[in-house]
Amino acid sequence: GRLDVMAECLWRSDRTAELYILSEVKNLGLISHATHVEVGDSADRATVLEFARRFQPDLVVIGPEEPLAAGIVDALASIGIPSVGPTKKLAQIESSKSFARRLITKYGIAGNPEHCFFSNAVGLSEYLAELGEFVVKPDGLTGGKGVKVFGDHLFSIEDGLAYCDEIFREGGIAIVEEKLDGEEFSFQSFCDGVTVVDTVPVQDHKRLKDGDNGPNTGGMGSYSCEDHLLPFLTSEDIEQASRINAAVARALRAELGEPYKGVLYGGFMLTTKGLKVIEYNARFGDPEALNILPIMETDFVDVCEAIIAGTLDKLDVTFQRKATVCKYIVPNSYPGGPSTGERVHLPPLDDPRLRVYYGAVSGDSADDLFLTGSRALGFVGIGSNLAEAESVAEVAAAQTGGPVFHRKDIGTAALVATRVAHMNALLPDGHGAGVQAPRGEAKWVAAN
Ligand code: AMP
Ligand code: GLY
Repeated sequence: GRLDVMAECLWRSDRTAELYILSEVKNLGLISHATHVEVGDSADRATVLEFARRFQPDLVVIGPEEPLAAGIVDALASIGIPSVGPTKKLAQIESSKSFARRLITKYGIAGNPEHCFFSNAVGLSEYLAELGEFVVKPDGLTGGKGVKVFGDHLFSIEDGLAYCDEIFREGGIAIVEEKLDGEEFSFQSFCDGVTVVDTVPVQDHKRLKDGDNGPNTGGMGSYSCEDHLLPFLTSEDIEQASRINAAVARALRAELGEPYKGVLYGGFMLTTKGLKVIEYNARFGDPEALNILPIMETDFVDVCEAIIAGTLDKLDVTFQRKATVCKYIVPNSYPGGPSTGERVHLPPLDDPRLRVYYGAVSGDSADDLFLTGSRALGFVGIGSNLAEAESVAEVAAAQTGGPVFHRKDIGTAALVATRVAHMNALLPDGHGAGVQAPRGEAKWVAAN
C-alpha cells in the first residue's frame, strides 16, 4: 500500500516522464501508476544496480526499510544516482534500536525511556525485577512484530528471561525498556540533511483486532485530523515531537558525518513522564504514508528533488485541511498464516472521497484479484472531519468480498473517545502551557 501511494503521488506529477518500479509485488495499483513494474528483490545490490543501469533514473525513491538497511542508497550513489532515503549508516536509526537509543542519549535529546542492552543474561533478572513492568525488543528489523510487552505477551520475569534467551541464542542483543503507558502517534518529517519539514501526525493501529486486541501487526489502519493535530494531543506536544525529529536529524549528521536525506519517522508515546520515543523509522510508515501523501498539496517530485538538493528550506510543503482514515483489508489468516491465494472482490470505487491502494494482491484485472498473504488493500477515506473520512473508508472496507477482515473501529468516535479518555486519565490537568479543557473533548464534539 505504501509503495502504491508513493507511486501514485510521483506518477500524478507533471514532472514525472517515466516511473520504473522494482518490488517484490506487482499489483494492479503499481501497474496503473508506472511506466514499468518489475518483480525483484529491492534489497539486493546486484538486482538494483542492474535495474538502475538499464533505466538510468534521475532519482530513486525508496519505500521500505530493507533496501535502506542493505545499503542500496550507497550502491546507487556509487554509480551516480541520488536517492530519497538514507545511506546504510544513517538507516541504523531504524535498523538498530540500540543505535537509536544510544544516539538519543549521547546528544542529550529528551525522550528515551529507562532502558538497558543485554547480550547475555548477566544482571538481566535483577534489571527486569527493578523495572517491574518491562518491554523486550530484539535489536534489528522485525517488521513491528518482535517487540514483547509485559501484560500482553510476557507475564513474569521468567517470561522475560525466556524471550531474551531466545534472542541471545540467535546471537542477538535484547533491549529491555520500562513499559510506558500513554497514547502513541507517528510523526513523519522530510529531511534534506539540514532542514526538517514536518508532515501531519497520524495514529496507527498495530493490534490485529477491534478494541486493540490480538497480536501486533505491521499496522491495520490509521487516521489523521483536519486540524493537523490528534484529538489527544496539544499543539505543544506536536512542537515537541518536531523538535525531537529535528534534533535526531542533527545528531545523525554530527555522529556519522553524512546528511540524512529522506523521511524520518518518529514513533512517539505521550505519557505521564512526558513525550517518549518508542522507535525511529528511516522511511514512511505503512499505513501512515496512505494518510499523508493523498492530502499533500506540494508536488511530491519537488519534495524529492529538494531533499536531494538540500533545498527543503526553499519549498513550501503544505497539506489539505482534511481528515483521513485508512483501513487495511487483510486475509483471515493474517498475520501468521501462509499465503492463501484466494480471491478478493473490490467494492464500488466511485466515491471521489475514497482511495484504494493495493498491497499484497496479485492478478491482472479488478475482477481477478488474489490474496497473497499480507495486508491486501488499503482503503483511505478523505473528509472534512474524521466522521466523514471514517464512514467513506468503512463503507468500502465492509463491501470488500472474500475471506478477509478489517478493523471496523479505526477512526470511529467511540475508539477516538477511548484514546482521549485514556490520555485525560493519565494527565487530568492537561499538559503543556495553557491547556485548560480536557484534551480533545471540545474538538471531538465539533467534529461530530
Ligand atoms: P516498536 O516496534 O518499537 O514500534 O514496538 C512495537 C509496539 O510495542 C509499539 O507500537 C508499542 O505499542 C509497544 N512498545 C514499544 N516500546 C514500548 C515501551 N517502552 N513501553 C510500552 N510499549 C512499548
Ligand atoms: N506503521 C508502522 C510502521 O510502518 O513501522
